[in-house]
Order: sequence, then C-alpha cells, then structure tokens
Amino acid sequence: MKIVAHIAARKFSLKSGAAFFLLTTLSLFVVAAWSQTAAAQSTKVAATPPMGWNSWNKFGCNVSDKLIREMTDAIVSTGMKDVGYRFVNVDDCWQVSRSGDGTIVVDPDRFPNGMKPLADYVHSKGLKFGVYTDAGRMTCEKRPGSYDHEAQDINTYASWGVDYVKIDWCYSDGLEPDVQYPKFRDAIAQSGRAIVFSICNWGVKAPWTWGPHTGNLWRTTGDISDKYNSMSVIGFSQNGLGKFAGPGHWNDPDMLEVGNGGMKHDEYLTHMALWAILAAPLLAGNDIRSMSDETKAILMNPEVIAVDQDAKGVQGHRGWDEGPLEIWVKPLADGSQAAGLFNRGESTLKITLDFKAIGAPATVKLRDLWERKDLGTMQDSYTTEVPKHGVVFLKVSN
Ligand code: GAL
Repeated sequence: MKIVAHIAARKFSLKSGAAFFLLTTLSLFVVAAWSQTAAAQSTKVAATPPMGWNSWNKFGCNVSDKLIREMTDAIVSTGMKDVGYRFVNVDDCWQVSRSGDGTIVVDPDRFPNGMKPLADYVHSKGLKFGVYTDAGRMTCEKRPGSYDHEAQDINTYASWGVDYVKIDWCYSDGLEPDVQYPKFRDAIAQSGRAIVFSICNWGVKAPWTWGPHTGNLWRTTGDISDKYNSMSVIGFSQNGLGKFAGPGHWNDPDMLEVGNGGMKHDEYLTHMALWAILAAPLLAGNDIRSMSDETKAILMNPEVIAVDQDAKGVQGHRGWDEGPLEIWVKPLADGSQAAGLFNRGESTLKITLDFKAIGAPATVKLRDLWERKDLGTMQDSYTTEVPKHGVVFLKVSN
C-alpha cells in the first residue's frame, strides 16, 4: 500500500513536473511572441518620432469638437500635413464622469457628437486622432483617471478609432509607474488596434529605463512653458539620454511652444533645432489656424524636420561646450551629421565648429538648414556669429 502510494505520488509529480515544464515553455514562448509583436507594433506606429498637434500648450482645458475640427482643417490647409504632422491630439478636459458600468463619459457640452464622429472626421482628412488620460485616480484637471479602468478605457478608445493615447501621472499616490503603465501597454496589444502610447510621468522613476519596453515615448521632465528659460533648461538637459531612444521608443522633452508668443524668433529657432537634434516628438502646441508666416517657417522647414525624422533614429548629444556656447550633433542615415551651434549667452558670440572634434573629415560640405542654402566646402573648421539665445543649424557632409 505504501509502495503503491509512493509510486502514485512519484507518477503524479513526474506528470506535474512535465506539465509544469510544458506550461513554462509554452508561456515563455507566448511571452516572447507577445513581446516581439509588441516590439514590432511599437516600431510600426512610431518608427520615427511622432509628429502632430496637441491642444494643451495653447488651449489648456478649453477644448471642443469645434476646435479640434478647425485645427484638423488647418493642419491640411497650412501644409503641415504635407511636411509630416499627422496626429491631432485632444489633451486634458474632454471627459466628465463614468457611467454605471464604468465607461468613460465624454463632456456633452464640449463634444456633443461624442468622440467617434470626431475621430472619423480627423481620419477623413488623412490624419490620426489622439486622446489623453491619466494612470492615476484623476487627471491633472480632476477629470476621472484610468486607474482600475485601464483595459476598459483602452477598449473604449479603440472602439472610437483612437490612434494615440497620452497617459499622465496626476493623483497617483502610492502607485508605481513601472507597474501601472505596462497595464496600458498590454491593453493596447490586446485591443488589436495600432495605438501610439505616450507615457507622461515627467521623468518620475527614470522612465527611459522601463519606457522602451512599455511605450513609444516618455516625458523626461516636468512641463514646458512658453519661456526661453523653461525650454532651454529642458532641452539642454537631455544629454546622455540618447542611448535609451531609437525607432519605436523616444525620449519626450515635451511639446512645442513655437508660435505661442512668449519667446523671441531666435529662441524659437533654438527650440525647434534642439528638438530636431534630440529626435524629439514634434507636437505643435500653437493655434495653427492663425499662425504667422514666421511661425510657419519654423514649424514647417522640411530640412529641419528631416533631421528629426531621420531614419537612423539616433538622438543627438552635446559634442562640445565652452561657457554659454554648445555644439550638439546628430548622426544621420546618409552618413552626414546635423550640428546645432547654440549660444545660450546674453549677446552675440562667435562659435567655431572644429570638424575633427565632431568626428568629421578635415574637408566637409556645409549647408545652413534654417537659411536652406549651401555654404560651400570648408577646411578644418567653420566660424560664425550666433545671436543671443540663437542657433546656427548646419548639415555637415563629406
Ligand atoms: C500635465 C502634463 C501636460 C498636460 C497637463 C494636463 O501633467 O504634463 O502636458 O497634459 O497635465 O492637465
């Protein structure tokens, strides 16, 4: 009896051992296949840094169906669509409550048609539609957050045809970002819809370490404002984060303030050039229905956009600095480099770009990207004056 029991027990443990082995192998296989699919999807939806427009920087809570439709039209009529701006993203304040079954309720005054017809409208113009939520209990403007409703909300967005979701981190006391955000990643994968996933937790718990296998982009700092000091402190502090970025996953130094009026022309040139060198998402944050020609020329310079969107997908870095002068470089797919010669000082200063110092040959061809003109072939170095808070933005080729 004892022996039989012993044999039976052994048989059982052998069987369960085999089953355990099989299960583990199977689940390892499923996880590997899943993460490969997730990785493939993430590269597909954000092979280059996402480009588009977002309501927050200019309009704050003042969003509506009308505003989003007008902005969609303006992206097309201004030519922004033609140079690559694709996403039309509604930020905070579109949601008001939850219904009995927990479904998120859209503000009926601001969006009387609901979100699906709006998404359809954006799609009908060849553009993509994005919404905003929060991984905590409430959004920063105290609208319902997605905590405990992660998959439900993602499925709702997918049913509307949402292509991009930005997920904030307000009212998240006691929660861990590297635990909460993966819930949305998995929900997006399960929804079957290709949705760009923008993590917005302001750099809390070093999102560049877990962001690459969680979302497509992650904010690295607190909020930008439309002031040179805010923009430049954020932009110039990104050095060293490049190793975490690449096709499908990008550091996000926040959305653009170009055209919002709080910075001088040279400061906006610095903003755009620096974001391009950083391979940052380019989400315009101004009123594009009424932007000036000066703003258009900054946001829509195709050669500057090409640096940001370069297929090599390498985030640039600070190659040289001396006092208020900084040279940032970004290697490009065609073997050339973009070089931003920045003057953070308070008066016009001369900067010398030493070709060897950035790993370029002694003789190079230079093109001025803001002026969109060739400067010719140069030997060893190039010296130029750069205005206060400004930039000379070059393409350096063999
Ligand atoms: C902040 C976020 C901003 C904007 C705002 C909306 O946390 O960083 O980009 O989304 O919330 O309330």
